[in-house]
Amino acid sequence: MAMQSGVASSALATALEEVEQRYRDRNAESWALLERASAVMPGGNTRSSLWSDPFPLYFVSGEGCRLKDADGHSYVDLLGEFTAGIFGHSSAVLKDAVSAAHANGINLSSHNTYEVRLAELLTARFPSMDLLRFCNSGTEANLMAVALAKIATSRERVVVFEKGYHGGLLTFGAASAKVNAPHKFEILPYDDVDAARALFAAKGAEIACVLVEPMQGAGGCRVGSRAFLAALRDLTAESGAVLIFDEVQTARMGEGGLQKRLGIIPDLTTIGKFFGGGLGFGCFGGRRGLMERLDPRRPDAISHAGTFNNNTLTMAAGIAAAEHYLTAEKLDALFDRGEALRSRLEALFADRKAPYTVTGLGSIMNIHGAAADHGDSARLLKLAHFALAERGYYFASRGLIALSLAVGDTEIDGFLNAMAAFLDESAAVFSSVDRSA
Ligand SMILES: Cc1ncc(COP(=O)(O)O)c(C=O)c1O
Repeated sequence: MAMQSGVASSALATALEEVEQRYRDRNAESWALLERASAVMPGGNTRSSLWSDPFPLYFVSGEGCRLKDADGHSYVDLLGEFTAGIFGHSSAVLKDAVSAAHANGINLSSHNTYEVRLAELLTARFPSMDLLRFCNSGTEANLMAVALAKIATSRERVVVFEKGYHGGLLTFGAASAKVNAPHKFEILPYDDVDAARALFAAKGAEIACVLVEPMQGAGGCRVGSRAFLAALRDLTAESGAVLIFDEVQTARMGEGGLQKRLGIIPDLTTIGKFFGGGLGFGCFGGRRGLMERLDPRRPDAISHAGTFNNNTLTMAAGIAAAEHYLTAEKLDALFDRGEALRSRLEALFADRKAPYTVTGLGSIMNIHGAAADHGDSARLLKLAHFALAERGYYFASRGLIALSLAVGDTEIDGFLNAMAAFLDESAAVFSSVDRSA
C-alpha cells in the first residue's frame, strides 16, 4: 500500500526500485512465508509495527547480536527487539533462570517468592515507585495507570501528546487511534510548555493525569526537554493531577530510568519490555498513597486481575535481567555507547552532506530522511533501510536503532563503514533531492 506523498526525484525513485528489487530477489523464502501466513492471519501479520513494505523479513534464529533470516542471510541486529532485547540473543543467564523456574512448577496458583524479589529489585531502583504491580505488557501497565489516576482523582480528562505511543490501545501517531481505549483525551503538541500551561489554565480541575514519554520512542525518538517535563511536574502538582511517566523504553537510560537522570519524579511510572528478561512483561508503580488503592484488604479496593501477572517464568527472567544485565554500570556504559554512535552518525551525515538526520538519546535513536517533501523523506529512509540490510545491518524500517549490550565496537565500526559506503555510492541520488530548509 503506497503511504507516501509527493513526486519522487526520478534518481531517488530509480535507486529505490533497484534496491527493492534486489531485496525481493534475495528474500524469496521470507516472501513465501508471508504468503503462507496470509492464509491464516490478516496480511500475514500479528503485530502491526512489524509490517514493512513490500514484506518484512522472517528470522529463524538469533545469537548475541546476530540474526539469521529464512533465506540464510546473517545480520547484525541493531534493532534489539524495539528496545526489549537489550541482552542480545540466547543469553545463558536468562535461559538458566527460566529453566530453573520452569523446573520448579508453572505459576504455582498463588503468590510466589519470585514476585516479591522482583518487586523489591524494581522499587529499589525507581525513585517514584514506593509500591508496584505487575501485568503482562507495557500497554496494560499504561491502561492501569490511567485508570488508577482517573479513579483516584475522580476526574475524566487524560492528557497525552501528539505522536505519543503507550501501546496498541493508547496510540497518538498519525494513522492510529481507532482502537484506542475510550478515554476523554486531550492531545497536546509534545515539548510545548505553553500549550500545556494553556490547557491547565483552562481545564486544570478536570485533568486526571498526564501520560508522557520522557523521550518519545515510536514517535521518532524525540527527546522531551527538561523544561517541558519539569513544567508538567509543576502543573500536575498544582492542579492535583497525576503525572505518569511511561518509561517502557527510557527505563534503560540508567539504573533509575530517565526520571533519575533528570531528577524529575512522577507520581506513577510504567515499565515493561526488558524488565521481563525477554518474556512478556509490564509493571506500573508509584506513590504509596495512590498505589494503596489497589490493596485488596481495603473495602474500596480497585481490582486488577490477570492470570499471568506474577507468572514465575517472567518473574524469574526479570530477576536475572535486573541482577545481571540492567546494572548501573552496564546501563551507563550502554548509554554512552549510544551517545557516541549517534554523534558519529550525525558527523557522517554532515560530512557527506547526506539528506539524513538522527535523533534520540543514549542507546535508542532514529534515522530520518531529510528531504523537503515528506514522501521523499520516506523514500530516503527506505533506501537506507534496504541498502544497510543488503550490507548485513538490520534496523527498523521506520529508522529505529536500539543497541543491545551484545553490540560491540566491531559491529558499530562495521555499521558506520557500511553507512559511509552507502552514502558515497548514493551521492548522485542525494544531489537530485530537494533538501529540507
Ligand atoms: C513507550 C512505550 N510505551 C508502551 C509500550 C507498549 O508496550 P507493549 O508492547 O509491551 O504493550 C511501548 C512499546 O513499544 C512503548 O514503546
